[in-house]
Amino acid sequence: MQAGVGQAIMSEQSSALKGTPNGSGGRREPGGVAAGVSLDDNFVQIVDVVKKFGETTAVRGVNLSVKKGELFALLGSSGCGKSTLLRMLAGLESVTEGQILIDGEDLAKMPPYTRPVNMMFQSYALFPHMSVESNVAFGLKQEGVRGGELKERVHKALELVQMAQYAKRKPHQLSGGQQQRVALARSLVKRPKLLLLDEPMSALDKQIRQRTQIELVNILDQVGVTCIMVTHDQEEAMTMANRLAVMSEGRIVQLGTPHEVYEYPNSRFSAGFIGSTNLFDGTVVEDEPDHVFVETPDLPVRMYVNHGITGPLGMPVTISVRPERIALMRKPPEGAYNWGRGKVSNIAYMGGYTLYHVTLDSGKVVVANVSSLALGEIDSPTFDDEVYVRWSASAGVVLTS
Ligand SMILES: Nc1ncnc2c1ncn2[C@@H]1O[C@H](COP(=O)(O)OP(=O)(O)OP(=O)(O)O)[C@@H](O)[C@H]1O
Ligand SMILES: [Mg+2]
Repeated sequence: MQAGVGQAIMSEQSSALKGTPNGSGGRREPGGVAAGVSLDDNFVQIVDVVKKFGETTAVRGVNLSVKKGELFALLGSSGCGKSTLLRMLAGLESVTEGQILIDGEDLAKMPPYTRPVNMMFQSYALFPHMSVESNVAFGLKQEGVRGGELKERVHKALELVQMAQYAKRKPHQLSGGQQQRVALARSLVKRPKLLLLDEPMSALDKQIRQRTQIELVNILDQVGVTCIMVTHDQEEAMTMANRLAVMSEGRIVQLGTPHEVYEYPNSRFSAGFIGSTNLFDGTVVEDEPDHVFVETPDLPVRMYVNHGITGPLGMPVTISVRPERIALMRKPPEGAYNWGRGKVSNIAYMGGYTLYHVTLDSGKVVVANVSSLALGEIDSPTFDDEVYVRWSASAGVVLTS
């Protein structure tokens, strides 16, 4: 598994997902559990959950099942209700409507100290005056664990996050990444069935963050704990999660594997939120079961997508085409569909690939992700060069909302 390469510009480019479409390397695949509905498939069940804070409705009817052993990511922009949903799962916030079941048991009916859940907060402050080992031991001591067992469990948890040699240090003597691992050890030491992580890497800079993402996936895999993680970093979700939910304004707008959500976004919101994309607005002029033609003012030719949609002729649609599906050419393409002519208006060199912004004759700006290899073949166009953009019938996804 690999994390994304450092990307100074356009962090929404998700290069990591190409190598590992389902993220998460060795973890159990979502399809790995036997078909049919079992308790393992529904380890966490969120049923019609609503949360109101006075006038504000933070969560508006969420339904979600998380499988046992899964690393599930909740993704969405600031204020969409991610932390609120997680806090309800932790039992820290009551549910206004609906129900949450963990391993078949109603969370609301479990006394707080018996809930098999541990949450690592958005700001995971360690106790500054306590050593690393005391920080990790704290929760266990509260549960009455003492003596040899306490020592043993704290040591094991610190070994797991490779922090055993720092046991005597205070938090301020550690790097951000090390502190983050101590916080994780503090959560894991209680052996929760369900681990909740709220922006676990928000305090880390990009480089440590990418390394820690991989470490975290490996640690969770070793422990085999079910984990729901909140992030607003789509690249992080793509790299780490087995499945993810995109949230907007208190609702889940799309649910699937990172690969599914990236390749088949179901709305403009999902398409724009997960990775960057080119959106072409147009109207349906021909709709057959296996293809659709769309006319758009952005291009001199029609758009052709090789899957059908359900809707009337003349229906307004948006077609999403990912930058890596767009080829750059020097000569006019031969086909009668899916191309445009323009001038290079921006070039961002990203290492293994280059992002070209092409301003079409219509004024529409199209972003193409061009590999170094492909760039050599077209003699590296430069600013203001006339170029053509083109893509295949299978590259576009028709969005109707
Ligand atoms: N205790 C509270 N009282 C009133 N409103 C609240 C409370 N907690 C959260 N909210 C509101 O609920 C909405 C969702 O908040 P939440 O913290 O769940 O967002 P989030 O998705 O975690 O955002 P971020 O990415 O910024 O952490 C926001 O509009 C917020 O202002
Ligand atoms: Mg939050």
